[in-house]
Amino acid sequence: MSTVYYVDETAGVDAPGNGSESAPYQSLAFALFTHGDAVKLLIRKDPNTLYDEPTQSALKKAKKGAEGLEKKKKKAEELAEREAKEKTAERERREKLIEESKKIQLKEDVSLPKATKIVHLAPLRSKRVRVNGWVHRLRSQKDIIFIVLRDGTGYLQCVLSGLVARTYEALTLTLESTVQLTGTLQEVPEGKTAPGGHELIVDYWRVLGAAPGADDAFTNRLNEKSDPSILADLRHLVLRGETASSVLKLRAALLAAFRETLTAHSLTEVTPPCMVQTQVEGGATLFKFDYYGQPAFLTQSSQLYLETCLPALGDVFCVQESFRAENSHTRRHLSEYTHLEAELAFINFDDLMTHIEAIICETVDRLLANPTSAAYIKQLNPSFKAPARPFLRLSYVDAIKWLNDHNIMHEAEDAEGNVIKEQGLTVMVPHKVGDDIAEAAERQMTDIIGTPVFLYGFPAELKAFYMKKMRVDGEGHVFTESCDLLMPGVGEIVGGSMRIDDLDELFAGYKREGIDPTPYYWYTDQRKYGTCAHGGYGLGVERLLAWLANRYTVRECSLYPRWPGRATP
Ligand code: 4AD
Repeated sequence: MSTVYYVDETAGVDAPGNGSESAPYQSLAFALFTHGDAVKLLIRKDPNTLYDEPTQSALKKAKKGAEGLEKKKKKAEELAEREAKEKTAERERREKLIEESKKIQLKEDVSLPKATKIVHLAPLRSKRVRVNGWVHRLRSQKDIIFIVLRDGTGYLQCVLSGLVARTYEALTLTLESTVQLTGTLQEVPEGKTAPGGHELIVDYWRVLGAAPGADDAFTNRLNEKSDPSILADLRHLVLRGETASSVLKLRAALLAAFRETLTAHSLTEVTPPCMVQTQVEGGATLFKFDYYGQPAFLTQSSQLYLETCLPALGDVFCVQESFRAENSHTRRHLSEYTHLEAELAFINFDDLMTHIEAIICETVDRLLANPTSAAYIKQLNPSFKAPARPFLRLSYVDAIKWLNDHNIMHEAEDAEGNVIKEQGLTVMVPHKVGDDIAEAAERQMTDIIGTPVFLYGFPAELKAFYMKKMRVDGEGHVFTESCDLLMPGVGEIVGGSMRIDDLDELFAGYKREGIDPTPYYWYTDQRKYGTCAHGGYGLGVERLLAWLANRYTVRECSLYPRWPGRATP
């Protein structure tokens, strides 16, 4: 007896059904196509009807369908065969090319000049030049190879064709290999664009250091979809990207522009130590270490050292790393950051804020006036506009009112300063004078205002021991001559103040903060030997850069950022 196959037109499936009673096919045509007509077929409309033999007309129709399926199958087989043949032919062609390529030896013209950096190429149009660099982009089109070469000073489109594109090295070239390319620098034809407006028509080249392909290829280590922790581990490779390297180029330009501006304002640059034995901004954020058996810290701020320079060098500034051991994972906190600090003698509080504003605006103007740095700003932050002067000045007390008027609340705290929670949710209350304005509230305020804002006159209890008092209000709050400069998108980028210039007041400040004055003898001496009204500020370079280059986090603005748990690479 012949085998029976079942077809259920509603509940069955052709593939992967098998035509058994428990897994019936859906169409008679498929059953015929799969098993031929020598088998017994039973069919039903749906699981509610009984299986029956198919009618003659249904069989006839199904036969036609089966023939169609057969044709389709043949076609697919033919196509697969053709593709396999083509693949083999392509592999053989490539193998042959590679075999032939091994015989090709390019001849070097030894009379050539020394290699040039890409940034210096413009005056060398139509001349033969030689450049070294990394293969930033690579594309083959027929027998032409296009390379975008990167040498850290710029990008250069290079074209390899003819013999130079047929060498073994050409056929096996990989991204991020180092190469030396020699050829004629040609203006790109009208209607086409290339970095610098020219391209190198290569006539001689060689690989200096081949990067791996296959599994270990650069793009397999790193690509746009890589996880943030992988990007952090591979920061050394991320830096090679166009955005990361532009941010660092802009950072370099920013530091140079700051130095020019500060120097133009008659400030002298000094280099204070990083290893210190005194605190500036409170003991909670100090990185401690053993210094030949004595306790020491990584500096939080060079301010106190700058103050000692005033009588010797006049107004001073420094660009120094500062270290903060705070467990902050926000997008504006680093454990190590570049701190630009300055100190000025014989000024008042108004002079201080005017100076900070001038330094920032003049530095931005310098960057925008320089075509190279202006291009980086345009690339990274196309809608950037230099901020208008003067910056808005908002007193701390007015800011508290502003926050309450805008329904921006503060986390409720108990007498010990612990956040109060109810049913797992933080209780929010209006701000009151004496509250530390939280980062989120500060950011909301800055973003709503939308321009740089000087927030000034913070209560003494929120600030460091050295800050000069401004006034006492009716409720006994003591306010200081302190200011934070807030920028839209980032928040606080500068913290500054006038400093206590009276010896007794300084001792009271040490006492209030529970600081032993002994190791501060050198700082105290400044108040003894010719005190003066003075003030200064610290600017977070990564924060300013995040604002300027429109970066989401300061982590993108540091060469090798450090944050809690991250000190690699
Ligand atoms: O407000 P801060 O703590 O002030 C001082 O250290 C003063 N002694 C500076 C001075 O007057 N010479 O820090 C100053 C600036 C902040 O406004 C912020 O831009 C930056 O330093 N900053 C940080 N940047 C990145 N990560 C951190 N953890 C930072 N802490 C402060």
